[in-house]
Amino acid sequence: MEIKIVSDAIQNVADEMIVVNLFEGIQTPGGATAAVDRALGGVISEAIAAGDLRGKKGEVAVFYSQGMIPARRVLVVGLGPQDRFSTEAVHWAAAAAARKARDLGVRSFSSLVHGAGAGGLPLEAAAQAVVEGTLLGLYRYQELKNEPPDRPDPERMTLVQFDPGRVPATEAGAQVGQIVAGATCLARDLVNRPANYATPSDLADVAVEIAGHFDRMRCQVLDEEDAAELKMGAFLGVAQGSEEPATFIVLEYNPDRPELDTLVLVGKGITFDSGGISLKEAENLDRMRGDMAGGAAVLAVMEAVGRLDLPLHVVGLVPATENMPGGYACKPGDVLTAMNGKTIEIISTDAEGRLILADALAYARRFEPKAVVDVATLTGACVIALGQGVAAGVFSTDDRLLARLQAASQSSGERIWPLPLYDDYLDRLESLTADLVNSAGRYGGVGTSAMFLKQFAEGYPWAHLDIAGMSFEERPDTPKRPAYLRKGGTGFGVRLLVQFLRDWVATGG
Ligand code: BES
Ligand code: MN
Ligand code: ZN
Repeated sequence: MEIKIVSDAIQNVADEMIVVNLFEGIQTPGGATAAVDRALGGVISEAIAAGDLRGKKGEVAVFYSQGMIPARRVLVVGLGPQDRFSTEAVHWAAAAAARKARDLGVRSFSSLVHGAGAGGLPLEAAAQAVVEGTLLGLYRYQELKNEPPDRPDPERMTLVQFDPGRVPATEAGAQVGQIVAGATCLARDLVNRPANYATPSDLADVAVEIAGHFDRMRCQVLDEEDAAELKMGAFLGVAQGSEEPATFIVLEYNPDRPELDTLVLVGKGITFDSGGISLKEAENLDRMRGDMAGGAAVLAVMEAVGRLDLPLHVVGLVPATENMPGGYACKPGDVLTAMNGKTIEIISTDAEGRLILADALAYARRFEPKAVVDVATLTGACVIALGQGVAAGVFSTDDRLLARLQAASQSSGERIWPLPLYDDYLDRLESLTADLVNSAGRYGGVGTSAMFLKQFAEGYPWAHLDIAGMSFEERPDTPKRPAYLRKGGTGFGVRLLVQFLRDWVATGG
C-alpha cells in the first residue's frame, strides 16, 4: 500500500473517502471532525444525537457527502473513551477504518492522524500507530490460496495534516509504522505458514534472505554437526526425534562495530511441537505449527532493525527444530548435557522449548551482551495465569531491563505483565539423576519454566517473555476483539521489541 502525507484541511481533500474520528460519549464533535460535520450540514452530530454513533473503539459510520465536500464518503471511526486513550485505540480505529474501506471497495482514502489532536499523543507516535493499525488490520494470509480474495486491498492511504510545519514528523512516524507493520506481517506469515512449508531449513532460508537485504547484516546457519561441536546437547536432544534437520540461526546487525551496544534476542523456533514421546492430544494440534512464534518475531525484528538502520549491535538467535516422537527421540528419564555443562533429566519431552533455549542462552554469552531478551511460546501455564490474548508474562533478573521492556510495552500497546523468579521454583527442579529436571508439574508451571531458563542465562542481564497466550488469535473476528488482529498469527513481540531497541538508542543505553 502506498502511503502519502499531505497538508490540508481534511474537508477540502478530494478522495474516494475521508476518515475522521470521535471519542466515546462526546455529544458535539470537535476539531477536524467538527469542520467536516459543519460542511455536511450537521449530519454527524445528528447521528450522535440519534444514538446511532457513540464513538466506541473501532465503531464505524459512513456518510455520503452528496457534493457538499469533494470527498464522496466520510467515515467516522470511534476512538473509545478519551480518559483511557492510548496508541492501542489508534491501532484499533485505523484498522477498523481500513477494513471498512476495503469492504466498500474503496481504493484510495485519506485519514486524520488519529490521536494527534485532542488525544494528546506525540504526532510521530500517532502517525506510526495509524499506519501500523491500517496495515495490520488489512493483513490476510493468502500464500497458499489459489483464488484471490474478493475484495482487494485499498491501494493508497493519505495522512492529512493541517499544519504544514508538522508534515515532517508525520512522515517520520509513518515511515517507522510501515517498517514495524511490515515486520509484524512477516512474523504473522511465518506463524500461519504450515509446518511443512516452514521447516527449520525454511526458517534459515528466511534468515539468509533478510540478511541479504542489508550490507551490515550477517547470517550464519549452524547445522546439527556445528551444534554438536558446540556441545549443544539440549538443543540436539530435541532435534533427534525428528527427520527434519535442525538449524541454529545467528543473525547479526553491525557485527563489525565494537563501539556499539550489543543486545541479543533469542526466539524459540519449534516449527512443530507434537510433544515428542510425551505426545500431545490431537485437538487443535495444528496450532503447534506456531510454536516458532518467538523465532518468527526475532527474525522479523532483525528485518526492522536493518530497515531502521539502528546504531546497535543486535544479534538474533533462533534455535529451530521440530519436536517429534521419532525412533531416536529423547525419552522421559534420559539425561542431556547443555552447552554450559549442566545436565538435564527429561521428565517431559513436551517441555522442549526450555531445552533449545537453554543452549541458545548459553551461546548468547559469547557476545558479551548488555542484555539478552528471549521470546517463546513456552507454557500453557502462562496462558492459564494471564489469559488467552490478554498479556504475555515477563521475567527478568534485572530491574532496569524489566523497566525498559515495560516502557516499550506501554508505548507499543503490546501488553506484558511481570511474574516472579522466586528461588522456591528452583527447589522444584531438583533431579534424582541430573543437575535439574526439565519439568516440575502443573503448579507454578510458568515460574518453574522461567527458573529453568535462568540457570542458562548467566553473565548478562536477562529477560524472558512467555508469549504462549499471545502468538495466535483463536477467536474469529468480533467487535469485541481489536480490529488490528485477525484469526491466526498475531506477530506479537515485534512491535514491543522494535520499540525497546529504538528506546535503547534514544536513551543511549
Ligand atoms: N509449546 C508448548 C506451550 C504452548 C501451549 C504454546 C499452548 C502455545 C499454546 C510447550 O512446548 C509445552 O508443551 N509446554 C508444556 C510444558 C509442560 C510439559 C511442563 C505445557 O505448557 O503444558
Ligand atoms: Mn511442548
Ligand atoms: Zn513447545
